Amino acid sequence: MSTTQTNKIEIIKASTSKIKDVDFDNLHFGDVFTDHLFECDFKNGEWQKPIIKPYAPFLMDPSSKVFHYGQAIFEGMKAYKDDNNDIWLFRPDENFKRFNNSATRMAMPEVPEEIFMEGLKQLLQLDEAWVQKGNGSSMYIRPFMIATGAGVMANPSDEYKFMILLSPAKAYYSGEVKVLIAEHFSRAANGGIGAAKAAGNYAAQFYPTNLANKEGFQQVIWTDDATHTKLEEAGTMNVFFRINNTLLTAPTSERILDGITRKSLIEMAKSEGINVDVRPVLVSELVEAAKNGSLKEIFGAGTAAVVSVIKGFSYQDVYYEMTPIENSYASQLKEKLTNLQNKISEDAFGWTVKV
Ligand code: COI
Repeated sequence: MSTTQTNKIEIIKASTSKIKDVDFDNLHFGDVFTDHLFECDFKNGEWQKPIIKPYAPFLMDPSSKVFHYGQAIFEGMKAYKDDNNDIWLFRPDENFKRFNNSATRMAMPEVPEEIFMEGLKQLLQLDEAWVQKGNGSSMYIRPFMIATGAGVMANPSDEYKFMILLSPAKAYYSGEVKVLIAEHFSRAANGGIGAAKAAGNYAAQFYPTNLANKEGFQQVIWTDDATHTKLEEAGTMNVFFRINNTLLTAPTSERILDGITRKSLIEMAKSEGINVDVRPVLVSELVEAAKNGSLKEIFGAGTAAVVSVIKGFSYQDVYYEMTPIENSYASQLKEKLTNLQNKISEDAFGWTVKV
């Protein structure tokens, strides 16, 4: 291992690389991590010296508050390599803002922009050989923060660890996606933490999603907790519905994550002349549209999921499936988005940021 000091981040390099053991053509999402990680601790009311070091397990006190009270937040971002071997981030400022909004909601300290952005950039530069080229390949970036303070008193921790992991990625979903519309379970409630990217929001979905999996559905589309009549978001992505030629998606709220892919697709679709209506979408209108044939498409949008076509949905034990269409909005928007992210097409929106 060799130690150097760069822009205030200490860098300890791994003595060997694991890259030669990785089959980049057969990546399962989130299973492989690069040689290094970024780490910065919060102690005594301030952020400590950041470090990039070899990826490895670490020790924690068993009473750390993250284990008992779930004070944990994360982000999902991606980096892409272009034909000149330059690495690009997609709207990192949006992830940074959302991360600190989540931190505030979970009574955690905000991470300074310099630590977040410099950590990200220097980690990507160090592990740049792991960033694969080509539309469909990307580096999934997982910034996260956990409460490391010891003690089981139910109050916010006074110590935290902020880390960034890198995981080379291809598709999140490998097969078809069929969804179940939630009739009883909820993802979030008004006044709760649904708009934060809090770890617990995801854990809370595992049990109902397992039940849906057993019935042959990959995901659940959550409905509002109060009435279960409005469609909100799916487990790993926001959702869009095309009825005739209008693209519908729920407005963000205290219950719905302000997805960066979601907001990018809304802008892109509008700029393509597609009629986009951001408004509450009722389960009843979806069922009616499926019955009368005006429901043309459903797709999910997220950093990991990109744009994932949803083949059909089940509600009250009835399964509805759309007939696949040529030149769908999902395929058009996915192509536009991934071409822009991979620097294959011009970035008219100014969303890409060079590392
Ligand atoms: C992402 O798309 O980055 C997410 O955070 C979803 C995650 C559950 C894979």
